[in-house]
Parts: sequence; structure tokens; C-alpha cells
Amino acid sequence: PAPGWAIDADVVVVGSGVAGLTTALRCAAAGLDTVVVTKARLDDGSTRWAQGGIAAALGEGDTPEQHLADTLVAGAGLCDEEAVRTLVTEGPDAVRRLITTGAHFDTTDSGDIALTREGGHHRRRIAHAGGDATGAEISRALVEAVRAAALRIIENALVLDLLTDAEGRTAGVSLHVMGEGQHDGVGAVRAPSVVLATGGMGQVFSATTNPSVSTGDGVALALRAGAEVSDLEFVQFHPTVLFLGADSEGQQPLVSEAVRGEGAHLVDATGTRFMLGQHELAELAPRDIVAKAITRRMHEHGTEHMYLDARHFGARMWEQRFPTILAACRAHGIDPVTEPVPVAPAAHYASGGIRTDLRGRTTVPGLYACGEVACTGVHGANRLASNSLLEGLVFAERIAADIAETRPPRTEPAEAPGDADAPVPLLAPEARTAIQRTMTRGAGVLRSAESLAAAAEELEALHRSAAADADDPEPKVAVPGVDTWEVTNLLLVSRVLVAAAREREETRGCHWREDRPDRDDEHWRRHLVVRIAADRT
Ligand code: SIN
Repeated sequence: PAPGWAIDADVVVVGSGVAGLTTALRCAAAGLDTVVVTKARLDDGSTRWAQGGIAAALGEGDTPEQHLADTLVAGAGLCDEEAVRTLVTEGPDAVRRLITTGAHFDTTDSGDIALTREGGHHRRRIAHAGGDATGAEISRALVEAVRAAALRIIENALVLDLLTDAEGRTAGVSLHVMGEGQHDGVGAVRAPSVVLATGGMGQVFSATTNPSVSTGDGVALALRAGAEVSDLEFVQFHPTVLFLGADSEGQQPLVSEAVRGEGAHLVDATGTRFMLGQHELAELAPRDIVAKAITRRMHEHGTEHMYLDARHFGARMWEQRFPTILAACRAHGIDPVTEPVPVAPAAHYASGGIRTDLRGRTTVPGLYACGEVACTGVHGANRLASNSLLEGLVFAERIAADIAETRPPRTEPAEAPGDADAPVPLLAPEARTAIQRTMTRGAGVLRSAESLAAAAEELEALHRSAAADADDPEPKVAVPGVDTWEVTNLLLVSRVLVAAAREREETRGCHWREDRPDRDDEHWRRHLVVRIAADRT
């Protein structure tokens, strides 16, 4: 539908996690007229769910070089070393600026930032807040700072499509807004710089640590706009998510890697520590290795979960260090102080996304991507624990600096994708569960040519039925709205993810093919880059 209302700005930031709000704050501080739009409320999204913390070489004896080395190992040969170097060298100061912005991190008795360990890190390097509520504290501080700054904020605003000018340069975004007074219904923010910071796509799977808003909207928009997207096959499954039953769907409670960082053991039903001897770091091996070991052990034992045993922490440590996890476990009738916690892997993080350079620029002029939605090259085939909040911070600052330096002039949107029509065909909201189950069965932690082919077929059938319905003179699909757009985006990113996973005929990082169990550097030490041309389907 044609936008019913329009406002103008220098920059529109889409998304309100650490990446979006940091970009917005820094743009506003540089004197740019900045609008933040977010699909739900300002503090919804993934950032506030982050537990373990934010990784940076802040500790005595630690260096960016060592952080770089750990990141490259986890990334399994596909990190962009220059991007990682940027992340780890600019990271410590970016964290200090976050503190200046108002975030309070836990400190030691001597007043230094307290640091913990997580998988793949050879040192204590993870700063945390409120014990295991790091994301909530970062979100609180950034939301407060944004509310205090002279920014315009539009909540409940689902981004639809990119608007471009006659030369194909970014000219803004179209939005579907619900219940925000003068900005209700379909409208547009016209701006020559658009920053996508929409987070991940965990909701393509049935069980995920991601909140319900993580539906791949930014990647779907970028695909429809003809931007390059890369590495979508590298979905990270967090090894230790509280197991609530095989049928449990939607957002699942995370049991942070920091619990293992402080000494918890992974055990099977017999109490055997099965990570010993598998990797020099045992329970603190990189995340893909631990997730694979858990999955293997589950298959061997014919069970649906393993256990995390941290009874030796005692009540006091559980209460002080991991209050969020303790409360979540107890809410589900499990007491980690007296019993091992049932855990299983679940979808957690999109290591790939919209391809950017080191200034956060995508392949569409004026369009930037930041945070989980982006593929800057820092994660390669498997993100190192707690590098994601850091990536959001560091690249947000770089993007704001780039926009402040270039200050592109405002231009008029020409007819643009999404301006005249929805990105046909729109899917009915009921398809959400079908997509999630298909993806979990066919493209989950353990994949094969066969499982992926079946998933591809089911997704194509959904796509065809929606297309046929859209061609019907009396289509039955629901009216365009948040649900229909979300599920349409889920289908698009799922189709691209499965296509990439089928093409990558090897096992690398968090992409695990049981029919191709080895890493194949000769043929596959490269990225799969996708760009969808004009028809946008
Ligand atoms: C965790 O706390 O285990 C999650 C950290 C991360 O995903 O980086």
C-alpha cells in the first residue's frame, strides 16, 4: 500500500537493541536528525535477554591479540580477520563508553570490572551485570539515554520495505504502525541513511532462545531490496537451554555459558562428564563443539536432553551470581542447588546476515546493517560467546561515524519495493508453526542432504500455496499486518537458509551435515553470498 503518512529525517534506525540504540545515540550526538523505529516497545528484542555478558580484553594480562586468536578459532576458518581485529581492538573502549552512557557492570572487591569465562575463551574476558542479567542492564541504560536524548521514537512499527530514489540510493523505509497516534497505519520515514538493527531470526525454529519478535525482518527486507546476504547456513545452537519437554515451542530459557565458565559440569543421566577428553577446554570448548557433543550423546543414549550439574556452587553462589537462571529453573520446578538441570541445544544466533564492510555499509548505497542482522565477517562459521553485544557496540559507533562524515543529502523516494504492493505473496499467520517445524526437522542442529531436501520441498509448497492464493480473485490470506508480514519474512529467510545449507556440502562451525561430516577447506573455505533480483520472491 502507498504510504499514508511520511516524516523526514537524516537517519532512520530500525531496531532497539544494543546495535540500534547505540547507533541512534551516536548519530544524534553528531547532530543528525535521527528517528528510531522498533517493532514492539523500545526494550523488546534480544539484547535484554542476553545473560553471560560482553567480551573484551579488559583483564590484566589479556590483549586484543588473544581475543582475536580465540575468535578466529571459533569461526572455523571463515572469519574476516580485519573485521575481527577491528572488533577486538576497538572493543575495550567501546565498553568503557557504554559505561559512560550509564550501564553498570559487576565489579570485584577492588572496583575493577568482574570478568568471567565462556566457551572458546582461553581467559576470563566476559564483563557482566546483575550477575546474569547483562542484556537487561545494557538495555535499561541505553533506553534511558535514548529517551533523554532529542530523538524521535516510533514504537509498534514493523518495517516493510526499503524506499529508494531514482538512482537506486536509499531514501527511507515504509512502515506498518499500530496504535501510535499520528503515525498509524502504513507510512514512511524518508531518510538518506537507513540502519537495519533488527536482530536475528531464531523464530524460524520451533525452540529458540530468541524472543517472538526475532523473525528475520531485516534480512528479508534486505533480500527484497537486492542487498547481498551471506552465511545464513551458520545458525548457532546454544548448547545449554533449559529443557522443558520435546514439544515445548517458542522462546526457551537460556542457561548461560557463564554457568560452565564458573565451573558447572555437563553430565549424562549416569553422571558421567562426557566433555572430558573431547576438547582441551572440556565444557568450555567452542559452542558448536559442545552442542554437537550433547546432541551425539543424546542420540547414543536415546534421550532428549543432558544435564548441567552445578550443585557444588551452593545456594549463595546461585542466588548472587545467577539469579535470573535460578528463578527460571525454579519457575519450572527445577532447583539447580539440589539437582542437575536438564538442558538441550536450541537455536540461538544467526552468525550470517546482511553483508557489510567495516563501516557497516551494505551493498545498497545508504543502507547499513548492524548487530545480529549484519554479517560483518567477525563471526565466520560460528560466533564466539559474548562477541555479539560487542559487535553491536563497535559497529554501531563506526556506522554513526560514517554517516556523520558523509552526511548524504535528503532525496525523494521514487517508486520503490513495497511502495505499491506487499512483497507478494503474503502468508497467513497460521503458516508460522508449519515453517518452524519444517526448519527444526530439516535444518536443525544436525542436517543432511535428505533432511534439507525435504525441508526445501515443504517450504516451496507453502510458497506456492501462498502465491496461488494471492492470484485468486478472492484471496483468503489475512490482511497485511504484523503477523502476516512476520510469517512472510520467516518463509523468505528460511528458503534462503535451506538453499545455502544444501549447497554447503561439508561440516564447518555450526553447520553440521551428517552426510558430509568433515570440514573441506579445499572447496568450502569461502562464503555463500545471496542476492535476489527484481521479482523479490
Ligand atoms: C550465554 O550467556 O551463554 C550467551 C552468550 C552469548 O550468546 O554470547
